[in-house]
Amino acid sequence: MTAKEYAVARLSGDGIGPEVLGAAAPILEAAGEREGFSLRWTDYPFGAAHYLRTGEVLPPSAVEEMGAMDALFLGAVGDPRVKPGILERGILLHLRFHFDQYVNLRPAKSYPRVPLPIQPKKGAGLDTLVVRENTEDFYMGIGGCTTGGTASVDLAAERGLYSLEGSLEGRFSNGVEGAFQIGVASEPAVRRVVAWGCRAARDRGEERITLASKSNALPQIYGFWEEVAAHEAARQGMALSVVNVDAMCYHLVRTPDLYGVIVAPNMFGDIVSDLLAGLSGGLGVAAGADIGDSLSMFEPIHGSAPDIAGTGRANPLAAILTGALMLDHLGEKGAARRVEEAVTGYLQSAPSSSLPFEFGGEASTAKAGELILGRM
Ligand code: NAD
Ligand code: IPM
Ligand code: MN
Repeated sequence: MTAKEYAVARLSGDGIGPEVLGAAAPILEAAGEREGFSLRWTDYPFGAAHYLRTGEVLPPSAVEEMGAMDALFLGAVGDPRVKPGILERGILLHLRFHFDQYVNLRPAKSYPRVPLPIQPKKGAGLDTLVVRENTEDFYMGIGGCTTGGTASVDLAAERGLYSLEGSLEGRFSNGVEGAFQIGVASEPAVRRVVAWGCRAARDRGEERITLASKSNALPQIYGFWEEVAAHEAARQGMALSVVNVDAMCYHLVRTPDLYGVIVAPNMFGDIVSDLLAGLSGGLGVAAGADIGDSLSMFEPIHGSAPDIAGTGRANPLAAILTGALMLDHLGEKGAARRVEEAVTGYLQSAPSSSLPFEFGGEASTAKAGELILGRM
């Protein structure tokens, strides 16, 4: 009998990306050893160094190769030496869109001994799930800058659900220069992510989802969202609360454990998930997954953190817990549980000085990884 093996494309990326994935990989491998499977990593070099050396961002041949694998595991991309957007859009967003990873799942959970900046009201810690739409909104990449006050914006975009075409022309009077960025929402894309959020809420034993919206200021796009969400939630027998995203942020800092499942359009979901990461102990403990019907990608929600890259101060827990999400998605529930238990056990029992810097300790990225590995 051949042992079970999963092919995983590993894109360590930039800054702390390689550091945190380096700490996570041996822990995931150890979980596999205990549960009778192995992970076959294929490493891809894409990121700032590769781009600066070769001019290449992400070749189509590599994307095609990745399509044959079981999962993608990504550290972070982005580097101060490269103009913002080139790597982020060219690698990260390209992969999310290409593989139609329409749900960005971002659990905000508190862990033992992880200091919370604001105490939850119910006293049971934090356990909120952000279900972020991951293919549309102001992330479409549709926009343009004017020359001489005029811009013609090409609406061309390819998505799993449709292709979009057409153009819009805008003209400022008096040669005023400016820029346009177009947000898009389509009925099937909103519906499928709301449906996903409803199922996640039901699995958690909840009867309500909360939509982060803003139809008071942006009635076309977010009014449309609210209509489709109301229809889909009703179809799923779920109650729906609609909360303006500004008020949601306000409520969250006063009552961090107010919400169960939050469904959010792409940009609000990005912002609210960083806020919830802060409320649940830090970006260094916030795991994430880009889920699609074919190939899913697993990435902590933090970025490349150039301010601490190379110092050993990056907290690897987010990457390790992201790895647990990946094992769970691959169907290896037992292995995922082992990883989570090793993290929890480490947090419960380590002397304060052996906790990550983010939690006031002195354990380097590698050291924290070793201590968790030792518990596998
Ligand atoms: P960031 O998430 O990299 O950092 C924000 C703050 O959180 C920084 O102070 C950083 O030191 C801290 N932080 C992040 N991860 C940490 C960890 N594991 N342990 C301890 N502290 C941690 O966000 P940013 O500063 O806005 O972005 C930096 C670069 O990363 C940019 O190029 C950005 O475009 C990119 N980025 C990439 C991703 C991704 O690849 N998924 C996500 C977000 C940002
Ligand atoms: C994230 C990041 C990305 C996003 C950036 C780097 C494009 O902030 O994964 O949260 O906005 O989705
Ligand atoms: Mn973000």
